[in-house]
Amino acid sequence: MDSQEELQASADYLRERGVGEVDVAIVLGTGLGGLVNEIDEVLAFNYSQIPHIPLATVEFHFGKLIYGELGGKRVLAWQGRFHYYEGYTMEQVVKPVRISKMLGAKALLISNAAGSLNPDIKKGALMCIEDHINLFPDSPLRGRNLDALGGRFPDMCEPYDVELSGAMFQVARSLDIPLYTGVYVGVPGPQLETRAEYRYLLTIGADAVGMSTVPEVIAAAHMNMPCAAVSVITDECNPEHLASFNIDEVIAIAKESEPLLTRLFSEFMNRLKV
Ligand code: HPA
Repeated sequence: MDSQEELQASADYLRERGVGEVDVAIVLGTGLGGLVNEIDEVLAFNYSQIPHIPLATVEFHFGKLIYGELGGKRVLAWQGRFHYYEGYTMEQVVKPVRISKMLGAKALLISNAAGSLNPDIKKGALMCIEDHINLFPDSPLRGRNLDALGGRFPDMCEPYDVELSGAMFQVARSLDIPLYTGVYVGVPGPQLETRAEYRYLLTIGADAVGMSTVPEVIAAAHMNMPCAAVSVITDECNPEHLASFNIDEVIAIAKESEPLLTRLFSEFMNRLKV
């Protein structure tokens, strides 16, 4: 079975089990899965049930796909993503996004946890990603092109949809939720960055750094799928005062900011016109 056939088989499996029309696909970041509690659930799948979805690592034993309604839209929410640092290939990392598109999703909404490089953007803040820098050593589009999904050389003029992001800012303003804007740099991880690397990332124009999102957004751009992404800032990466990284603290900060992100995404879905 080639990649395209595998994707089709995953999508067919979900269709046959009742996944109907999909308006928006949502990929939820580490510690940010709470949005699923707002979804009127119609169907739920463990990742392990879905054919050709990679075998879950320990981190992923709760990987769950929810199909249901949120803000009057039909959504497919992937709770738990595949990270490159876990050893998945780029092709595996972007399967959720591709399957969503094949099921008819017209837009993609992403959340992630990220470290801030911009001294104005503090722990706990939300940042709408306006653009990215790809420092992964690989691309999900490397290799034979999946012509049914998109062209060989997709441009990256506007990988984050200006209209969707604009709508996100409007919603944030109306809810009085501070929302920053900035450039996200995607790194392979899993090791954090050195002081010298943080200085470098700042120099090349990044506001926040994380180990996800960029592959998914590249796959979405390939398929002409408009997307919006919001980072929850979980740590501050000041190279002159670098504190040692504490994953428990990162998860605790993500959990603290999650209700804010959930309100933002829920209201965004409410107002979205698809
Ligand atoms: N660096 C890389 N990835 C991250 C960070 C960070 O500081 N915080 C959360 N994800």
